[in-house]
Amino acid sequence: MLNTEQIRKDFPILQRKVNGHSLTYLDNGATSQKPIQVINAISGYYSSHNANVHRGVHTLSAESTEMYESARKKVAKFINAEPEEIIFTKNASEALNLIAYTYGDASISPGDTITTSIMEHHSDFIPWQVLAKKKGATLSIMNATREGAIPESEYSKIGGAKLTSIVHASNVLGTINPVKEFAKLAHENEGVILVDGSQSVPHLPVDVKDLDCDFFAFTGHKMLGPTGIGVLYGKKELLEKMPPFLYGGEMVVDAKVDGCKWNNAPHKFEAGTPNMAGTIGLGAAVDYLANLGMENVRAHELELLCHAIDSLRQVEGLEIYGPSNPQDRTGVLSFNIEGLSSIDLSSLLDEYGFAIRSGFHCAQPLHDALGISPSARISFYIYNTKEEIALLKSRIEEAKKVMS
Ligand SMILES: Cc1ncc(COP(=O)(O)O)c(C=O)c1O
Repeated sequence: MLNTEQIRKDFPILQRKVNGHSLTYLDNGATSQKPIQVINAISGYYSSHNANVHRGVHTLSAESTEMYESARKKVAKFINAEPEEIIFTKNASEALNLIAYTYGDASISPGDTITTSIMEHHSDFIPWQVLAKKKGATLSIMNATREGAIPESEYSKIGGAKLTSIVHASNVLGTINPVKEFAKLAHENEGVILVDGSQSVPHLPVDVKDLDCDFFAFTGHKMLGPTGIGVLYGKKELLEKMPPFLYGGEMVVDAKVDGCKWNNAPHKFEAGTPNMAGTIGLGAAVDYLANLGMENVRAHELELLCHAIDSLRQVEGLEIYGPSNPQDRTGVLSFNIEGLSSIDLSSLLDEYGFAIRSGFHCAQPLHDALGISPSARISFYIYNTKEEIALLKSRIEEAKKVMS
C-alpha cells in the first residue's frame, strides 16, 4: 500500500492554500502535480548539464545526450518496450497525430475503414475524422452503453478496419477497455491497432508486449512529469517502414541537394532540438512511479474509487457515469447533480480550495451519445486521501443547499 502521508511531502504545491483553504487537488485526469524529485531533475539539468543532444563531442553535449537517452531507456522499461521503439513527442495529441500523418497517410486508401470509439478524447477522434475525410475512407465508431462499456456486438467493427485507434482508459467514464482482445481481433483481420494510453499508463501497470498493440501513445504531464513531453511506442518493424513525420535536423543521416537518407527510428521521428529537460523530467517521474510500484498505485486508487462511489451515491440527485464495478474502471468519476450545473459546482468548490473539472472533458461526442450535459469530474492520484473524499462530499452537500 502507498504511504500517502510520506508521498504528500514530496509535492510542494500540496502545501499551498487556495482561497484560504488547503488545496484539495482532484483534477489529475487533466494534469498531475509534480514531486520535488521531478522539479529537481529539471532544474539540475539546466543548472549543470544543458547542451544540445546528439550534436556535439564536448562534455556537456555528451552528458546531455546520455541523460536524454537514459530517459528513453527508463520509459521503455516502464511499459516493457525496446528503447528504439520509444519516440518522444510533445504530448499524446502529437503522438496520435503522428500516426495519422505518417502511417495513416501512407496506408489508408479510398474505401478503407478506420475504427475508433465514441468514448475517445478529441485527440483520438478528430485525427481519424480528418484522415477519413481526406482519404475517402469510412470512419466506423464503436458505441458505448450508458454503463460505459463497448458492447461485444460492436467488436466486429475492428475486424473490418485497416486501422483501429482506441482509448485504453476513458478520461470521462474511467472504463478500462479490453485492448488486448481488440489487438487480437485487429491482427486476425490484418489490421493495425493504436492505443491511447494517456489515462492508463499513469494509473495501471502497462505492458505493451503483452497487449500486443502496434502503437501506443501517452503523455508525460499526467504521470508526474512536466508538460511538453509525450511518448509514442511503435513496433520496430512498423516504425522502420513508416515515412518521417517532420523534416529537419537529426532525422537524416545523409542530406544532399538531390535527396536525403532518413535516420533510423526513433530519431527519424524526432526532427529538431528535442525537449531535453522535459524528457529528463519524465525519466525522473518514471523512477518515482516505478519506485512506488504500479500495482500499489492501482490498489490505492481503487480503494479511493470504491470509497468515493459509496460516499457520492449518498448525495441525493447525483448520478455517476461509467461502469458500476470499480474493477472495470480507473480512478476517474464523472457525475451530474440534478438542479446544479457542473460549472456552478466546480466554482463553488473552488471557494473551498477544491480543484475539480467541469465540462465535456474534450469528449463531446460521448456526452452527446449518452444524452448528458457537461459533467463534473473528480480524478485521483497517489497523494489523494479518503479524508479529502469525506470533505468533498460535505462541500457538495453545502453547494446543493446554496443553489436550492
Ligand atoms: C484519454 C486522453 N487522450 C488524449 C489526451 C490528450 O493529452 P495531451 O493533451 O497531453 O495531448 C488526454 C488528455 O486529457 C486524454 O485524457
